[in-house]
Amino acid sequence: MTPHLFVLFGATGDLAAKKLFPALYRSFGDASGVRVLGVGRSDWDDAKIQDEAAGALVESGIEESDARAWADKTLTYARVEAYDELGPVFDRADEIEASGETEGNRAYYLALPPSTFPGTITALGDHEADNDRAPNEDGHQEGGWTRLVIEKPFGSDLESARELNAVVHEHFREKQVYRIDHFLGKETVQNLLVFRFANAMFESLWSRSHVEAVEIVVAETNDAEGRAGYFDGVGTMRDMIQNHLTQLFALTAMEPPARLDADGIRREKTKVLTSTRAASPEHAVYGQYGAGEGKEAYAEHEGVDADSKTETFAAVQLHVDNWRWQGVPFTLRTGKRLKERLTEIIVTFRRPPVSLFNSAKDGCEPSPNVLRIRLQPDEGFRLSFDVKAPGSGFSTSTQHFDFDYADAFGDPPDAYETLLRDVASGDTTLFVHAEEAEQAWRIYEPLLNADMTPEAYATGTWGPQEAERLGFTLDPATPYSDC
Ligand code: BG6
Repeated sequence: MTPHLFVLFGATGDLAAKKLFPALYRSFGDASGVRVLGVGRSDWDDAKIQDEAAGALVESGIEESDARAWADKTLTYARVEAYDELGPVFDRADEIEASGETEGNRAYYLALPPSTFPGTITALGDHEADNDRAPNEDGHQEGGWTRLVIEKPFGSDLESARELNAVVHEHFREKQVYRIDHFLGKETVQNLLVFRFANAMFESLWSRSHVEAVEIVVAETNDAEGRAGYFDGVGTMRDMIQNHLTQLFALTAMEPPARLDADGIRREKTKVLTSTRAASPEHAVYGQYGAGEGKEAYAEHEGVDADSKTETFAAVQLHVDNWRWQGVPFTLRTGKRLKERLTEIIVTFRRPPVSLFNSAKDGCEPSPNVLRIRLQPDEGFRLSFDVKAPGSGFSTSTQHFDFDYADAFGDPPDAYETLLRDVASGDTTLFVHAEEAEQAWRIYEPLLNADMTPEAYATGTWGPQEAERLGFTLDPATPYSDC
């Protein structure tokens, strides 16, 4: 593992405790030469961050003695008054680097409120320039590399994303920049590429000639309680659809890359996003969860206005104007406090041109073939097909081929582990490119600018009934519920 100093801005926050400390331990726990410098505004010191991190590791299932030993050996803390006054950070970093252990390599990880991004990036950039650490054209830096990792949300609309990209590019080369979308670190999301491009059988069917519709569903049971400060006013479009679901959409719809590397994949993702028509409010439905299962409604959470119009559910239909997908609707939907936790890409193939058979179930048509790629939980896939139901005549019955990821390979690693290792090794394949981020905002501009009123839905349901007008059955577990 490449030695480096991992400078974690926002070290006292939720993401650090829940995801980043455990991922740092699991990725670099055994490596020598990896040190972590936490940065925050809270009045913490080295002992405090070591205690907090050790506690977070134990919480995530790591043995207490291992957690303690790692935290004490690896973590230090620098307190700042503001995120654009970074003197204490650079002093601490110089002190750690004096031993030579981290070989002068630095990863700056911004897990911060987005409003602080421009100031922090500028302060980091100025420091790099003052210390002659600017890389040459090939990205090579004398005396160690610098990489900038930026957590989502990357902007809040097209204009702010462009402005943020401009600030980033004023100080850093694109090759140094790692925009995180943690869905791309999920093993099963990467498996989409292998599934599509290693299996000629599916790829040859992957177009308007054979596919009727594609649905991308991310149903969550969690809610926004305790996160109002971030979530209210941001909402599901910006928190989930513009990034996580759009990434799933791009990987599902893109053309095969010329090469399996960062440029090859980013180029194809950007191309398909550029071919995607801007979403229209008539083809979108917003929802907001009400009370249910003994829990209060969204509008009753602390910090949320009683008449908040923030959406906790969104469904939107996209159309891709290219040769492969013209006319095929892609419906993206996600919501909080839904009935089950489930992330799936559901590809419905066209029915045979002539139907010779009847379903064994009264009043039903034979089913189309449906491929369901399950990303979480119970990662795997299921392909449905019709067979002859036993007995006289030719009635059909729908059956399945199943593949279960955990049965074959055990549990996949956490997304953040994969991404932190990629930052250390300098691989940007699983990160979002500047242009890709802007294209992803462009698609949703009409919705962000429209006055969308969320429909109420009860906690523990599949979302607002109104969403069915986009042409799908609300319950994704039974897309053909009538049959
Ligand atoms: C985060 C969102 O990026 O992703 C959350 O801010 C969401 O609102 C989460 O719950 C979902 O990620 P995962 O990996 O738990 O499916």
